[in-house]
Amino acid sequence: IRDCSIITDMSSSVSMTIDNVLSSSFCESGVATTINVVVSLLCVNGISKGVFEVLPEKFKNLPIYDYGDALIFPGMIDMHVHAPQFAFRGTSMDLELMDWLNRYTFPEEEKYEDLKYAKKAYDMFVKALKESATTRSVIFATRHRYATELLMELMEASGLISYVGKVNMDREASDNLTEKNADVSAYTTFGWINAVKDKFTRTKPILTPRFIPCCTDKLMEELREIQMAYGIPVQSHLSESKGEIDFVKFLRPKNSFYGDSYNEYDLFGKNDDIGVDVKTVMAHCVWSTDEEVELMHKNGVFVAHCPASNMNLTSGIAPIRKYLDLGLNVGLGSDVAGGHSLSIFRAITDAIQVSKMYFRMVNENYKPLVFSESFYLATKGGGEFFGKVGSFEDGYDFDAIVLNDNVLSHPQTLNLAERMERAVYLGLDEKNLTAKFVAGTKVL
Ligand code: GUN
Ligand code: FE
Repeated sequence: IRDCSIITDMSSSVSMTIDNVLSSSFCESGVATTINVVVSLLCVNGISKGVFEVLPEKFKNLPIYDYGDALIFPGMIDMHVHAPQFAFRGTSMDLELMDWLNRYTFPEEEKYEDLKYAKKAYDMFVKALKESATTRSVIFATRHRYATELLMELMEASGLISYVGKVNMDREASDNLTEKNADVSAYTTFGWINAVKDKFTRTKPILTPRFIPCCTDKLMEELREIQMAYGIPVQSHLSESKGEIDFVKFLRPKNSFYGDSYNEYDLFGKNDDIGVDVKTVMAHCVWSTDEEVELMHKNGVFVAHCPASNMNLTSGIAPIRKYLDLGLNVGLGSDVAGGHSLSIFRAITDAIQVSKMYFRMVNENYKPLVFSESFYLATKGGGEFFGKVGSFEDGYDFDAIVLNDNVLSHPQTLNLAERMERAVYLGLDEKNLTAKFVAGTKVL
């Protein structure tokens, strides 16, 4: 689609002459169409009104942004990222999960007791996230209440939309990071949720048991009560690495699979039998058994696929083709600092590449992902966790990023599909992000 204009009715608004890209037009066929017409992206009160070749008369006077021949994508969704690990990303990549946590991650997270350190490090994280292609994210903080509130304030000021979780962990970590007991963890969590639940418009709390190895049965009981009292969503880790899974089997021999130990406490999606509906995202799901996958599907649990992390920590390859075939909700996560990059463009390419390795090395019944599918995971796939997000279709929240790909020279004229794929593979998000809109508000 050529020569677009984006129009909003907000004080700042957009028009452009561009090759416009809609994730929805890609997700089905995997083939992009190029239509040489002038179209407009229209945003009213933060909501996309769709794409128009001829702008309806009543919107003609709205302010217009013109970005020339740029590309416009829906904003990227990061379904799983650890803000306090941003500082040590790209280092300490020599160990598998459990040793990596003990040796590097827990000592770094201990530092967030100190609000001065937290401010310095979280400022850097939020600045980088704001300047990235990501418009929405689901974030782990640390177990520290006040540093988590500070992070939420910074996220709110950035204009990005996020869920942020104060982590719960009352066993199996370093002394300084482990909460004293389940009661202290629950009490702190109550205080935190009460302080933040109505404080922000774009930043919301999410219940965050770190993972089963770090949470006693008593703490899980308390978290069930807290979830029921506030109705907030849940995030955690699931079936990420073999060492972790063996440890969970040892800790919870009664549960026939890992996910059952979250489900037992009603922290695993919806359960129609008892009328609970807990929006849940589980990171990784590399080694989920058939039983676990079936329950995730039944309960509508989201999978945050984090391919870079799964490679760095030698965790394995999540069978995303299988999950898509079964109809699971799947999005992409950076999992900084298991993943070393905040870029969801990079996660898109990593997801494709690991799916090719899975196909070739593990099971040739599961075809590799194609670009359009991985792009879909990064936008509409994860976007569903936030509501109608990840597309420019009528009724979706207006999250958009504008990218100038004329910095990537080419001897030929490329079609839209080529321009789009190349922008992602060549990391244009880290080179040339021209503008960014989140729910209709221009943040960059
Ligand atoms: N499992 C429990 N905590 C973590 C973490 O911080 N990162 C990853 N990748 N997995 C985890
Ligand atoms: Fe993680």
